Amino acid sequence: MKPSFMPPDALENSPRPTLLGYPGGGGAPYLDEMRRMGVDGVALFGDSEINGQRVLGKGHTGVVVLVRARGMTAALKMRRTDSPRPDMDGEAVLLAAANHIGVGPRLLGHTPNLLLMEYIDGTPLREWLAARPPARSAKGAIRRILEQCYRLDRIGLDHGELTDMSRHALVGARTAIIDFESASLSRRPANVTSAAQCLYLGGLSAHTRGICPAPAPDMIIDALRAYKSRPGHGSFCSLLDMLGV
Ligand SMILES: Nc1ncnc2c1ncn2[C@@H]1O[C@H](COP(=O)(O)OP(=O)(O)O)[C@@H](O)[C@H]1O
Ligand SMILES: [Mg+2]
Repeated sequence: MKPSFMPPDALENSPRPTLLGYPGGGGAPYLDEMRRMGVDGVALFGDSEINGQRVLGKGHTGVVVLVRARGMTAALKMRRTDSPRPDMDGEAVLLAAANHIGVGPRLLGHTPNLLLMEYIDGTPLREWLAARPPARSAKGAIRRILEQCYRLDRIGLDHGELTDMSRHALVGARTAIIDFESASLSRRPANVTSAAQCLYLGGLSAHTRGICPAPAPDMIIDALRAYKSRPGHGSFCSLLDMLGV
């Protein structure tokens, strides 16, 4: 289905409970901030639903909608009123740091309640693997994800939620790690080990192993230990080699 865009204030005038300031209400500041960032269209489009309205996604801290801004299609993450975060500043700083090394959706702007970013037209990793793509494509996506994790490890940015990465990577024309809301530049980074653990030993392992056979868990654990004690290009490449990706 093709998205159709309407002016943002149509969300306020909709007969359904508004998506602005979800779930508490009080959407006026959101509209104001949208205008400031040049958002002039919103589409009720995507695979998730809130009060009968389609959205790209809904998490614990945000509702993500497809928008048009400055002539581009983009994704807008709107802070939930019940979010534990006071504003979007922290996430914007961390996403910008990830962007610096080419990771994450490109940050296009932010205000206290909103974060405007590149729209990733992709499928959440779990669903994508569950659809049993050919082994070659699965290996390519896994490799791209682990390489992005490695770059994050190198700059000391820990994503924080990759031990369950079923919803934290979108696979499409572009494969992207998303949601830097729980990320940190002060923890010891564990992106490669968390993602590999999830893909080969944890929640996604049945899917992954069903598509691309991988070594026994013991061998993977050893390679992850080696990387953890000496994180670097050598131990990372050995890990990829061993996984066969
Ligand atoms: N840049 C994006 N492009 C497309 N969809 C996105 C994008 N960012 C988030 N989403 C969708 O919105 C959902 C919720 O976003 P997320 O950042 O995880 O919110 P939260 O911090 O509330 O968990 C994601 O699971 C994903 O499906
Ligand atoms: Mg999230």
